[in-house]
Amino acid sequence: MMTKIVNSWNDFDPLKHVIVGRADHSCIPPEEPATSEKVPIDSTMRGMWGPRPLETVEKANIQLDNLVKVLTERGVKVDRPEPLQWNQPVITPDFRTGSMMTCMPPRDTLLTIGSEIIEAAMSFRCRFWEYLAFRPLLSRYFNEDPEFLWSQAPRPRLSDKSYKHNYYDERISLEERLVRTANKDFVTTEEEILFDAADVMRVGKDLFIQHGLTTNRKAMEWFKRKYPDMRIHAVNFPGDPYPIHIDATFVPLRPGLIINNPHRRLPKEQRVIFEKNGWEIVDAAQPAHTEPPPLCYSSVWLSMNCLVLDHKTVIVEASEVHQLEQMDKLGMNVIPVAFRDAYAFGGGLHCATADVYREGTCQDYFP
Ligand code: NVA
Repeated sequence: MMTKIVNSWNDFDPLKHVIVGRADHSCIPPEEPATSEKVPIDSTMRGMWGPRPLETVEKANIQLDNLVKVLTERGVKVDRPEPLQWNQPVITPDFRTGSMMTCMPPRDTLLTIGSEIIEAAMSFRCRFWEYLAFRPLLSRYFNEDPEFLWSQAPRPRLSDKSYKHNYYDERISLEERLVRTANKDFVTTEEEILFDAADVMRVGKDLFIQHGLTTNRKAMEWFKRKYPDMRIHAVNFPGDPYPIHIDATFVPLRPGLIINNPHRRLPKEQRVIFEKNGWEIVDAAQPAHTEPPPLCYSSVWLSMNCLVLDHKTVIVEASEVHQLEQMDKLGMNVIPVAFRDAYAFGGGLHCATADVYREGTCQDYFP
C-alpha cells in the first residue's frame, strides 16, 4: 500500500515513527586521523581496538530494546537497522582501516528533512559503510511512500588530504584545544564535503549546523545549494574542546525553548536570531555523573541528549536526576528511561534514534 511514511522538520513535533539503533557486533575502531584524539592518553582504550565485550553489547541491547518498548507503548512505531559484521576492514582506493564501528547511533548517519532522508557524508573512515545497515529500511520506505526522497551526500574519499596530520599531538593541552575551537581550526580540511548528520539541528526552515571536528564549511555550502529555500546557519561553541555532534550542546525542546550546555554556550552574535524571535536559551542542568561509563567516547553531557516526543513530553536518561528535575520545571512531562549501558556504543537517547515521521509541517520560526 502506498502511504506517506517519511516526514520530519524538527526535533520536537509529535513523534510517530522512529528508528532505534542496535549494538550487535559493535567494535572499537582502530585509531585514524579523525578519531585518535578522542581516546585520552591514560585511557585503557588507548591502542585497543576490535569487537566490544559481548556482555556490554548484551547490556546495551537490553536498554535499547526497553526504549523500543517505551516508545511502542506510547504509540510510536519503531524500526530497527540490520547490523553488519562491523569487525571487517574498510578498504577503498584511498585508505584502509582495520574495522568498522557500529550502527547504534542512527542520528549520526541519517538526516531527515521533510520527506527526505539523507545518508550523511560522514567523516570517520571506520563509519564509511554504516549507512548500509539502514538500507533495508530506506528501501522499504521508498517502495511504500511515493513522496519519500532518498538521498545520499556526495561520498567523501577520506584520503589523507581530508585531514590535518598530527593535528592531535598528545602534548596538546586542553587550553590549546579550546584555542583551536575558538579559531575554528579543526582536524578536517576543506578538501571535500564532510558532515555527520548529528551536527545538524533542524528547526523548520532553518538548519543550524555545528562547524567542528566532524563537519566542515564545505558541507554548509553543500546544504545552501541543496536547499536554496532554507536558511543555513554555521554555529560554533567555543567552550567545547571536542566539538563533535550538536545534540549534547544545543537541544531544542519545543518552539521557543532550547537548552544549551553551560560549558559550550552559543556566542552572543549567534544568539541574536533566537532572541530576536523570542526564543529562550536556557543553561542545561549539570550532569548527575562526573565520568562517562567505561569505553565511552562521549562526555557526561549525554545528560542533555534527550528524545522529545512532543511539545510537552521528553524522554531523559533515568539516572540524570538534575536534568529530570529541570525538564519538569520547564513544564515538560518527563519519562525516565535507563540508558547508560548504551552510551559507549555511540551516545544517548537522541543519538540512538533517527526520525522517520513527526507530525507538522515546515514552519518559519525565525522570520
Ligand atoms: N560531543 C558530544 C557528543 C554528543 C553526542 C559529547 O560527548 O559531549
